[in-house]
Amino acid sequence: SIYSVSALILAYLCGSIPTAVWIGLSFYGIDVREYGSGNAGATNTFRVLGKQAGIPVMLIDILKGWTATNLAYMIGVTTTGPYNSVAFTNYQLALGIAAVMGHLFPIFAGFRGGKGIATLFGMILAINLHAALLCVLVFIVVLLVTKYVSLSSILAGFMYPIGVTFIFPVYVKSVIIYGMCICVLILVTHQKNIERLLKGKESKVNLFKRKTT
Ligand code: G3P
Repeated sequence: SIYSVSALILAYLCGSIPTAVWIGLSFYGIDVREYGSGNAGATNTFRVLGKQAGIPVMLIDILKGWTATNLAYMIGVTTTGPYNSVAFTNYQLALGIAAVMGHLFPIFAGFRGGKGIATLFGMILAINLHAALLCVLVFIVVLLVTKYVSLSSILAGFMYPIGVTFIFPVYVKSVIIYGMCICVLILVTHQKNIERLLKGKESKVNLFKRKTT
């Protein structure tokens, strides 16, 4: 219907809010895309501007995916079928992906955005809380062990289809297919990171950094 299409556009616009770019420009006069990895995401904002900017970017980017996915509840059961139905869940996934596309190609920032990890996480959080927590766990463990955010993102992403298949099996099977597509998407957005990881040139995070100056 006209409503479900409008919500998809709204989800894309929501994902398009270029949090990293806007926070960087408004509070620091810096476009984070010109520094570090050149990515307009929470990780690069942490890297370039520190946690005072990185944490809000991360939270807002998660919120974008979560909000967009939950737009499904506003369109309601009349168009999409009852909550937890296959059609409703598919519609949630479509909204979440629309937001992720907005994040990758933001209409408000020259279509140069981020890699979609926080926004994908917001979507997963809205659809499958248990799988989302599992992804966070994998992310944290990999980050503590390797100090690579990109590798943590990739492996946490792979945990999603594994989680919804084997650990918290979902009733809507298309979630598993979407989960696999998400893995492919993450590999595509992280191409440069993967190249750097293979060359041993990926930047590591200093998790317990003390200011020395
Ligand atoms: O969420 C993005 C992260 O996985 C990698 O970011 O800036 O290191 O390319 P970055």
